Amino acid sequence: MKGYLLTAIFLEVLQCMYAAPSLTDKDEYHFKTWMSAHNKQYGLDEYYQRLQNFIENKRRIDHHNAGNHKFTMGLNQFADMTFAEFKKQYLITEPQNCSATKGNHVSSNGPYPDAIDWREKGHYITDVKNQGPCGSCWTFSTTGCLESVTAIATGKLPLLAEQQLVDCAGAFNNHGCEGGLPSQAFEYIKYNKGLMAEADYPYTAQDGPCKYNPQLAAAFVKEVVNITKYDEMGMVDAVARLNPVSFAFEVTSDFMLYQKGVYSSNKCHNTTDKVNHAVLAVGYNEENGTPYWIVKNSWGPTWGIDGYFYIEREKNMCGLAACSSYPLPLI
Ligand SMILES: *[C@@H]1O[C@H](CO)[C@@H](O)[C@H](O)[C@H]1NC(C)=O
Ligand SMILES: *[C@@H]1O[C@H](CO)[C@@H](O)[C@H](O)[C@H]1NC(C)=O
Ligand SMILES: *[C@@H]1O[C@H](CO)[C@@H](O)[C@H](O)[C@H]1NC(C)=O
Repeated sequence: MKGYLLTAIFLEVLQCMYAAPSLTDKDEYHFKTWMSAHNKQYGLDEYYQRLQNFIENKRRIDHHNAGNHKFTMGLNQFADMTFAEFKKQYLITEPQNCSATKGNHVSSNGPYPDAIDWREKGHYITDVKNQGPCGSCWTFSTTGCLESVTAIATGKLPLLAEQQLVDCAGAFNNHGCEGGLPSQAFEYIKYNKGLMAEADYPYTAQDGPCKYNPQLAAAFVKEVVNITKYDEMGMVDAVARLNPVSFAFEVTSDFMLYQKGVYSSNKCHNTTDKVNHAVLAVGYNEENGTPYWIVKNSWGPTWGIDGYFYIEREKNMCGLAACSSYPLPLI
């Protein structure tokens, strides 16, 4: 309560000091409402910078939502950040060795159901997690996929440890909070002979020393299956017949503030060298003639559609078919 009062007084003072003519009271009222909804507190200088970012983002959102798009944008937890800042904290910043020129996934000839959602087929998908400010998306994509293939095979849904991958998977071209790839993480788990449970190796959102304890291994990989690059129908085949699939794509500024609907963009690239975020396809569907993927993200349950997003399918949108993979569980 005391903290809240102080913050409130602080803000009043700030308002007097900084009320720039272009800022309306309404803008600032919005910002304060958003701040309290997202539990944000700033120091003096930061407040003004965050307010500027917020207002810029809000104008972009209003402009976007007034246009003719298949998705809407909204003031989520990233609304006080510039994209450059977001990119540095949350995305993979270096180009990865993402590509399977010739994958080992063998597609059937179909036919495929019009829609599939692994969240509805059984207890196969864990709750949406939150990577925090660390470029560890690839570890969440990896655990999400191994959790689900293990559950599909055994009937028991494990909760697996991202932090072990952050700390220990470096020999497979992974770089902790600086990035990595699910296919390389699956290779690590296979050769390491196990991945621990979340509860035994808690997530810290920071790089740390490897603390793997083989006696506590909770899930295992028998084989890594890569889908040939740009073979999006191979992804459909795998998700329709087998299990959710890990993939990577390029996040650009319009995605940071995604709220709902089918994301599609002409800002992003579609090649292997540009992917900067890894996620998990848990299903697909179609809306008003637009096919889309149903995707589990790792930015917490309040981002997007309860932590999920839809992205246009069958166009290699933002390079989403550039490097997709899944593991075969060893049980
Ligand atoms: C890509 O692979 C090469 C050769 O294995 C390796 O030297 C390089 O560090 C890898 N790049 C990344 C970003 O891991
Ligand atoms: C799958 O991808 C991983 C990581 O890039 C690679 O090490 C592995 O050799 C690939 N597997 C196959 C069967 O191509
Ligand atoms: C990437 O997009 C361009 C332009 O739409 C298209 O011509 C090209 O075939 C796409 N490449 C891949 C690998 O999807």
